[in-house]
This record gives sequence, structure tokens and C-alpha cells, in this order.
Amino acid sequence: MASKDFDRMEDSNRSSNPSIHDVSDPARRTVLRGSLGVAAAALYGPLVAACAGPSGRETPRAIEPTIGFKGVPVDATDKLVVPEGYVASVIAAWGEPIGVPGNMPAWKPDGSNSAAEQAVQMGMHHDGMEYFPLNGNSSSRGLLMMNHEYTDDGLLHVGGFNNMNADKVKKSQMAHGLSVIEVEMKGDGWQMARPSRYARRFPMDAPFEVRGPAAGHPMMKTSADPAGLRVLGTLNNCAASKTPWGTYLSGEENFMFYFGGGDNIAAHHRRWGMRKDGFYQWEKFDPRFDATKEPNEPNRFGWVVEVDPYDPTSTPIKRTALGRAAHEGAWVAVTKDNRAVVYSGEDARFEYLYKFVSRDRIQPGGAKANATLLDHGTLHVAKFNADGSGQWLPMVHGQGPLTAANGFADQGEVLIKARQAADILGATKMDRPEWLAIDPLTNWVYCTLTNNSNRGQPNFPGVDAVNPRANNSMGQIVRWQEERDFDATSFKWNHLVLAGDPANERAEAKGNIKGDIYGCPDGIAFDARGVLWIQTDAHATQMYKGEFKNIGNNQMLACDPRSGQTRRFLTGPTNCEVTGVTWTPDGRTMFINIQHPGETPSDRSDPADPGKFSRWPDYQPGGRPRSATVVIRKRDGGIIGT
Ligand code: FEO
Ligand code: CA
Ligand code: CA
Repeated sequence: MASKDFDRMEDSNRSSNPSIHDVSDPARRTVLRGSLGVAAAALYGPLVAACAGPSGRETPRAIEPTIGFKGVPVDATDKLVVPEGYVASVIAAWGEPIGVPGNMPAWKPDGSNSAAEQAVQMGMHHDGMEYFPLNGNSSSRGLLMMNHEYTDDGLLHVGGFNNMNADKVKKSQMAHGLSVIEVEMKGDGWQMARPSRYARRFPMDAPFEVRGPAAGHPMMKTSADPAGLRVLGTLNNCAASKTPWGTYLSGEENFMFYFGGGDNIAAHHRRWGMRKDGFYQWEKFDPRFDATKEPNEPNRFGWVVEVDPYDPTSTPIKRTALGRAAHEGAWVAVTKDNRAVVYSGEDARFEYLYKFVSRDRIQPGGAKANATLLDHGTLHVAKFNADGSGQWLPMVHGQGPLTAANGFADQGEVLIKARQAADILGATKMDRPEWLAIDPLTNWVYCTLTNNSNRGQPNFPGVDAVNPRANNSMGQIVRWQEERDFDATSFKWNHLVLAGDPANERAEAKGNIKGDIYGCPDGIAFDARGVLWIQTDAHATQMYKGEFKNIGNNQMLACDPRSGQTRRFLTGPTNCEVTGVTWTPDGRTMFINIQHPGETPSDRSDPADPGKFSRWPDYQPGGRPRSATVVIRKRDGGIIGT
């Protein structure tokens, strides 16, 4: 989500890291073009074949995964389209009871469910999601855990966002957070298994433990939690992943939307994008979100949270060692000696990419055996060089400029102020890093940089090698290979693709896609065969016109990362985002999420006509569109994508 009103919140980075200016200087650019193929490839990407690495050196794979389906055309109608031979069905739409035994209130299509009912129903605006098999490794019964990123209060309430009050705020808070549901295949179809002992919601009143170096830090203490060890709720959760030890990781993304800062906002909070008023009016009815009353409360969000969905009694944890950021999500790679390396980015303009390397090794024995794994290790931030190399800069208190004299009293403060630490280290300011994915066959790491309309504009950072387009409306996918192993501090990188439409007049909007076109890549994930699945999130303010006029609804594509060939697999309903993807272990069922069908340019629907742009998936006259999970199967029961 990128609210138009809150546009500026996503580019609160006014630091002047030297790397940007180095590579945006026209004189230097000429030198690079003449002397280094790497820089030429990066800076003049639209002219370069999608998969040729910088200076034509190695591409990341020797095996070509087959993509066997017949691609679907661009579509701009209010329906979900999958290829011939596939069938898609909807489960677990917003408001469905999740299956808490004895407490399964039915969804009311007019928005009149109470906050208490919403607390045991599917949250709004489904996002990242993972399948956790039951019965060993079942591909017909499992848990789906997912994020509910934000609310459209125009749809959520009778009367919408007008006359907000404490009850509406409470309902909005209950529609946020995370869900665990049990799902099962019956015959050919999947359904929610209700009631289920696993069914859980983690809305804004769910307790989370704080662990790692910032636990108990003075900047984490509030009047409700003087110890700084326990936070109620998680916010704006976007992407998700599953750890090798069987837990769920979720990123707290643009949490600052929820806080009001009043007239005198502290420099620290200003750096994180705090505004006078929150986007949701929570601070008017819940003093916790009024930073003039609780100035430390925002420090308790922006973390990666870890949950064990298999244990219905488990307490979710905020893992502060991974750093505070507008985390899209977090993804685990494993070193040769079995340590965890966690990649994460923050979806905000000109912010950063991070990597945490655990001190300890992953232990057999699941969640309980790895309960402290993500609490000890070293966080790094990425610096991309114009020659196709890169470094991971350690974010360790006392090393380099991360000292008390520069405003970092201890490691806890480095982590709470990770953006400021990255600024001072000279990390590379990116074009909104969204999802990451690790190629299971080659160990290359991929990251979507969804767009950045302010890149290269007056008073904003200029283009650089990895973010090579001014007014970057379309986004790109960057990839890198670590030197020797995932814990390395140096890497080499190139672009998989610059997204766009070759029919566009503006050079920066053409891109170099091989195959079906798209813009604004966001969700990405590899399947077990090594196919890279790409999901898009162009905003309602961009779609169906201008540079996006040929691109239609948001969509999902399959890409062979070796050749770069891309084929459109699915198109979503009007104004939706396609996000979240997970598979059963046999690869024969794919689950995705359709988020915010019918999104309005303001991110807030008109309660007088809540289905103005979409009535998916129910198509009821006067009805409200609903985010929902979609189950995709091949009619012949085959592996998805073959
Ligand atoms: Fe929540 Fe970055 O999309
Ligand atoms: Ca996203
Ligand atoms: Ca997005």
C-alpha cells in the first residue's frame, strides 16, 4: 500500500550518503560507461538484455526450469483469470470466521460486525502467507498463516471512515495483524477446517515478547510497559516467509502511518516519517498511538516478528537483533555450517537492504530448539557499487561511526535507529525494497525494488547503478551472489530485469522484460523447481492510464531466472494487488492472496458505494469487495507451472 496522501512518508531519508552522489554525477557516469561494462549495464539497463550479467559474465543457473502453461493476456475487468487447464477458488475472505471453537460469528456484508467479532474473523487486506503442513508433510491438510496489512475503513465500517470513534478504531485494530487457519482438501477442493484448535488471530491486543539487544532498552519503555519487554500487536505486516526450523516470519512495514506526532516531532521520529496526524485517526481514540503522550511507542514497531503456528499456546516474538525498519518481510538462507542468514528490506523510498548473520547454528528440533537463534548475531546493511560489486556493512555499536558521540549509546540504539545507522555508514538508498527470494538451485538472492517516482527528481537522490532510472514508475529486480557463502561481507550483483512496457515513449518506462509485460514487482518467491514467481502491486493512482495503459490489472508471472523469459500466469480483479504465495509440499496446490480489490486512489472507499471499483469475489449488488485467499490447482492434478 502506498497512500497518495502519505506519499512523503515513504521518502523521509534526507541523509546524503556519498554513494548516491558518486554514481549520479554525470562526469563520473561517463567515465564508468567508458571503462566498465558493469556500470554500463546497470546505468543503461534498458538497452541491455535482461539476463546478461554485468559485462556478460556468468548468469546464475545451469538448469532451466520448464514453464509449461499457456500465458494469459492482460486484463482490466473485475475478475481473476488463470491459464487454461487451471482452476482458482476463493477461501478465507475478509470477515470469515477463522474457526475458534465456540466462537464463529458469520460475516455481515454491510460492515456491521463488531470489533469483538472481527477479532475472531479473517482480518482485512491479506498479504504474505505460508503453508505449514500437518500430519507430517501433508499436501492435503495444513495451516495457512498470513498477514493482514492494513484496513480500508471505508469498507470496514457502516458509514466508513466518517465519524470515526473508539469502536471503529477498535475494529480497525482487530482487522489488522496475523491469522492462522486450518485448511484441508476435500475431493478436488480446498476449504477452511472449522473449528480448529490451531485457529488464531494476532490483532492489536495480542501480546508479543520483545527479544534481542533492544529488549528492555530505555527507548522501548512506555507507561503500559515500563520494562520494555512486551508489546500489544503487530502493524502493517506485509511479506512473510517460513524459517528452516518451521516458524513464520513477518515484517512490520510502514507502521508510522498509525501514529500522530503533533506539532513538535522529534528528529528521530521525523527520520522515520512521522507526521502530525496518523492516517487512521487511531491516536485520537487510543493514546498509545499519540506520540506526544507515548513517544517511545513507535519504537516498538518496525520489527520482524516470529511466530510458531504449530503451537497454539506460543507467544509471538519481536526479534530486535534483525534491526528496526519499515520491513517488508524477512527471508532465511542457511550457511554451509548451518547458521541462519536473514535478508530483509524496507519498503520506503531511498531506504535500505539488510542482512543478519546468526552467531549460532540452526539446531534440529523445530521452533523450541531455535528459540534464541535470531537474538544473537550481526546485522549488516548493503552498499551496492557501480562496478557490480557490493559490501555488507556491519552495524555494530562501537565500530566505525556507530558511537555514542554520533548518537548511538549502545547496540540497542543502533538497532532501534537502524535507518540513522545506515545513513551514517553510507549504505545505498534503494527504490523501495519489497520481497526477497533465494534461488534454491543457485543461491542467488533476488529482491524486488517496486518503484520510486522521486528518484532523480529535484531535491531527491539521483540515479545510481542499482537504481538506474529517474522517476522510476516501473521498478526492477536486482539479484546478487555472495562471495563464497551467505555470511560473506562482499557480493556481486546485477539486474534480472527492469520492468516496463516497450511501447512507452519515456526511455525510463520501457524496461527490458523478455516476454509478458508488467510494472511494480512486489511479491516474489521461488518454487521448488527454481521458477521465480513475480507478483505486482501498481497503485490505483497509476493503473490503466499513462505508462500503465497497456498493463491492466495487477498480475502474477512465472520467470525462468536463467533466460529471463517471463510468462503471465494470472491477472487479478480490478484495482487489486496480487500478493502472498505458498505451495503444498507436492507443488500441486498454490495459494495466493488478492489484496484490496477495488482499491481507490485515496486507499479509502466511499461507504455510499463501497463496490465502486470492484465487487470481487462475491459480486453482490451493492456489496463490498473483500481481500481473500485463492487456491489454484491444475485440473489434471499436476504440478503448478508445468
Ligand atoms: Fe506492503 Fe511494501 O507492500
Ligand atoms: Ca508488498
Ligand atoms: Ca507494494
